[in-house]
Amino acid sequence: MRPLSDIRYEQAGKSDPYLHQSSGFYDPASRSKGSKKKWWIIGGILLLLLIIAAIVAGIVVSNANKKNASASSGSSSGGAGGSGGSGSPLSGGQGGPAGAGGVGRFAVATDTYGLPIYPTETNSAVYGAPTFVPPSSDASSNVPSTFPADPWSPGDSPSWIVTRPDRPRLIAPSYKWAALPNMIANDPYLFGWNETIFGNATFYYNEPLTNYSIDGCLSCSGVLDVARQVKVKVKSWAYAYRMTNDSTWVDRIWSELVNAAGNNTDTYFGEEGNNWNYAHFLDTAEFTAAFAIAYDWLYDVWTQPQRDAIMWSILDLGISWGLQAYTNQTFHDSNGWWNAVNGNWNCVCNGGLSLGALAILGDDPTGMAEQMLNYTVPDATANCAMAPSTDGTWSETANYWYFGTTAHAEMTSSLMTATGSDYGMLNANPSFNETALFHIYVTGMTSLFNYGDHGPNKYSTTANGMLLYGSEYNTPVYTLFQRDRFDAAEPWSMFWYDGSVTGGWWDGLPLDHYFDNGLDLWASMRSSWTNNNGTYVAMKSGNHTGHQTHGDLDGGDFVLDFMGQRFAGELGSGDYLSTGYFSSEGQDSQRWLYYRKRTEGQNAIVVGEQNQVANNGPTANFGTTGEAQDYTTTYTIPAGSTAFFTTDLTSTYFNVTSYQRGIRLLNNRRQVLLQDDIVATASVQWRMHTNATITYQDNGTTAILTLEGKVAQVKLLNVPTGTGATFQTLDPVRYASDPPLPTNPQQVDQPNPGVSVLSITFQDAGTYSIQVLFNPQWDDMSASDFVTPPTVPVSQWTVTSHNS
Ligand SMILES: *[C@@H]1O[C@H](CO)[C@@H](O)[C@H](O)[C@H]1NC(C)=O
Ligand SMILES: *[C@@H]1O[C@H](CO)[C@@H](O)[C@H](O)[C@H]1NC(C)=O
Ligand SMILES: *[C@@H]1O[C@H](CO)[C@@H](O)[C@H](O)[C@H]1NC(C)=O
Ligand SMILES: *[C@@H]1O[C@H](CO)[C@@H](O)[C@H](O)[C@H]1NC(C)=O
Ligand SMILES: *[C@@H]1O[C@H](CO)[C@@H](O)[C@H](O)[C@H]1NC(C)=O
Ligand SMILES: *[C@@H]1O[C@H](CO)[C@@H](O)[C@H](O)[C@H]1NC(C)=O
Ligand SMILES: *[C@@H]1O[C@H](CO)[C@@H](O)[C@H](O)[C@H]1NC(C)=O
Ligand SMILES: *[C@@H]1O[C@H](CO)[C@@H](O)[C@H](O)[C@H]1NC(C)=O
Ligand SMILES: *[C@@H]1O[C@H](CO)[C@@H](O)[C@H](O)[C@H]1NC(C)=O
Ligand SMILES: *[C@@H]1O[C@H](CO)[C@@H](O)[C@H](O)[C@H]1NC(C)=O
Ligand SMILES: *[C@@H]1O[C@H](CO)[C@@H](O)[C@H](O)[C@H]1NC(C)=O
Ligand SMILES: *[C@@H]1O[C@H](CO)[C@@H](O)[C@H](O)[C@H]1NC(C)=O
Repeated sequence: MRPLSDIRYEQAGKSDPYLHQSSGFYDPASRSKGSKKKWWIIGGILLLLLIIAAIVAGIVVSNANKKNASASSGSSSGGAGGSGGSGSPLSGGQGGPAGAGGVGRFAVATDTYGLPIYPTETNSAVYGAPTFVPPSSDASSNVPSTFPADPWSPGDSPSWIVTRPDRPRLIAPSYKWAALPNMIANDPYLFGWNETIFGNATFYYNEPLTNYSIDGCLSCSGVLDVARQVKVKVKSWAYAYRMTNDSTWVDRIWSELVNAAGNNTDTYFGEEGNNWNYAHFLDTAEFTAAFAIAYDWLYDVWTQPQRDAIMWSILDLGISWGLQAYTNQTFHDSNGWWNAVNGNWNCVCNGGLSLGALAILGDDPTGMAEQMLNYTVPDATANCAMAPSTDGTWSETANYWYFGTTAHAEMTSSLMTATGSDYGMLNANPSFNETALFHIYVTGMTSLFNYGDHGPNKYSTTANGMLLYGSEYNTPVYTLFQRDRFDAAEPWSMFWYDGSVTGGWWDGLPLDHYFDNGLDLWASMRSSWTNNNGTYVAMKSGNHTGHQTHGDLDGGDFVLDFMGQRFAGELGSGDYLSTGYFSSEGQDSQRWLYYRKRTEGQNAIVVGEQNQVANNGPTANFGTTGEAQDYTTTYTIPAGSTAFFTTDLTSTYFNVTSYQRGIRLLNNRRQVLLQDDIVATASVQWRMHTNATITYQDNGTTAILTLEGKVAQVKLLNVPTGTGATFQTLDPVRYASDPPLPTNPQQVDQPNPGVSVLSITFQDAGTYSIQVLFNPQWDDMSASDFVTPPTVPVSQWTVTSHNS
């Protein structure tokens, strides 16, 4: 991490017209050129002290651990020892305190994809089963990184009219702030997150006031990025203020609020009265949330005029439009449609409005705040909470899960802290719990199985709802999974994290999972949870409708990670501003004109150079030998371990009489077979998008894919006789036969630099079994170690069907 002083200095010098009073670090004098050197030296000294502290902490932890683990030998190879310097995997290399039992942060670093790297560890005393350690009756022996019980209780019949008597009431009540410093001193995760939040707060402090940059047009993507930037800033600064009582942070928040309320005469911030842009209501909601946090967390610090000013902005720019969305049919039809839909929009819009209403409840002289909650709470429990289907898959995409769950968690947590009840947000959908499991399995060994649209910039959006869900659903795996992720360092985590959690999240977690709801039939299969240099395979089928126009025509689409590289990947979103991009999920939707949304832009079969059927209804099957990882990070799969996913895609295609696609793991999950058994009345083309460079052998029946120095051999087995089929490299562009893109203005496809399409083409209609074998060239395997699978029709695949 870069020294804070460094970041602070680089960002300094920007004019800050609202900052009249400064103190400490932020004295304007220190922003002059002359002070650069001074701050560099101080920063250097601080950094040196931090390093020394880290080394000392590392040694202490290392010794403590030796004591704890003295009963077992060979506890660690010290493999990825991080920068702690002691060689102990438990020093975490991150500085700061050791946590419960002397254990530091588990992950020693993040890889180039931002995924945690775990040290080699085979000592069961270190990573046990995921557990929340219950509080002991002997208070002195309790884990010092958990919050005490809430001194306030809403009584028998909680109601949003009865609110917590003290502030803050949103997410972070005062008893938690009081406990936090001691917890930070005792918990390595909280310690690290606190450091990062302060670093971020400092970085943002020196940024200019957030500009009202419009993305496309106000009703296109509007000012959503702007709103989320303001929210993330306010959140960080408010946190920093409450941890330091340094009013510099308050002044900075105030100048940002005045600007974002449209009250800064020097800047333009939207149309008066509609500055938060209800034409793209997510923007309105996120601004409302930002102002709600500022109002509530700093309630006691604001002067009465400041408090009133923030409240009236929440009412006039946020809640009054929120009420229009619910009470005015005309307004609803153009700007409030989200209140009848189950995806992220419903969560974000109801969530932001609810935070705003809860913040000012009791102070609001209009009654609008209470009225707002009477609409948002039932609507969110009926829609937002229903976004996960019965198997937990988010109705939109793996990336939209982030927006939906962040807003769901913020709203749920705020209701709970402000009123004492979640009003059904957690349990209205009995499958909501499973959406955390969805997130775990959709996370691959490089990145997500990121099918469909990837969504806008995340800014204030994270996966930290996992921490809340871990506690509320009493599922420590969720908490353990998320705490090692890079985006865990954020204010909400400080209040959602239950530091009594112990264990490795992978311990006992099945390697594979089948998501069986027809909306997104899909499966996730892997060789390990902790060694991301292994195999990850995910394939989806399912209906093309019901995804809030964020899906693709992608039945049978898959990703492949081998050896730390994504060999088969996704292209992601097209341009959200393209004509008709969100027009509908119907067959004739303009959305399906764009390459990245068309079937040919997927890792799928294309028949007759045509898109798949939009109104499909495929079926699927799945099997696994069912292994779960053990407590070690060096888990090895037992011989014979396998898993497969098959799907009948007949209803997903035009000009297809029958079609089954199957993917399975072979040879202890070190090879992958992809097979398509198809009877088609038009041409058939097999397509896969890859960043690898491709060369060919065996007259084009073997492709050699090379990616970042890793090599995967791809073999076309049992070439259908008479077809002369071979692999060919195509460009990731539309067919000449495709219907034209919308004109006036002329629309274009996004370029896909570095991407090639590995393809096999059968010009004629016919019956084909296309068998493609992936042989990643693992360091410890030689040519003779690879197996060639028997030919088994996909419809007859079982767990044992390919045993030799
Ligand atoms: C949180 O981090 C800041 C910045 O490094 C530090 O000044 C502060 O002491 C930390 N808080 C606690 C309770 O350790
Ligand atoms: C600020 O936003 C306006 C649109 O409101 C835009 O014209 C301008 O280029 C933006 N400035 C910066 C620095 O981004
Ligand atoms: C901005 O100005 C409007 C109109 O005077 C006022 O109602 C609102 O409270 C102000 N908000 C802030 C944060 O200054
Ligand atoms: C309802 O919304 C429409 C469209 O925004 C607006 O023109 C109209 O004034 C609104 N009606 C009321 C009663 O607020
Ligand atoms: C909100 O709902 C509660 C409970 O149904 C009701 O008592 C209250 O009058 C409602 N408030 C408003 C402003 O509609
Ligand atoms: C949540 O899901 C997990 C994993 O399926 C399960 O272990 C746990 O019991 C569930 N919790 C609740 C409250 O349903
Ligand atoms: C803020 O914190 C996150 C970690 O949660 C980090 O990834 C990000 O780069 C930080 N942003 C800035 C501007 O420092
Ligand atoms: C994965 O491979 C990379 C380099 O290819 C290496 O740096 C890293 O340590 C490996 N990780 C594991 C868990 O083996
Ligand atoms: C190519 O690499 C980029 C960057 O890692 C990734 O976002 C994209 O999904 C990859 N594309 C394919 C087809 O794998
Ligand atoms: C999927 O589509 C089929 C056919 O339209 C329909 O019968 C089925 O109910 C849909 N499944 C889900 C989960 O929406
Ligand atoms: C394929 O199906 C489409 C839609 O039913 C039809 O218009 C087209 O003529 C068919 N093509 C062939 C080659 O059969
Ligand atoms: C490639 O094709 C030629 C001509 O059909 C044949 O003679 C040769 O053996 C083939 N090579 C391989 C490696 O299959």
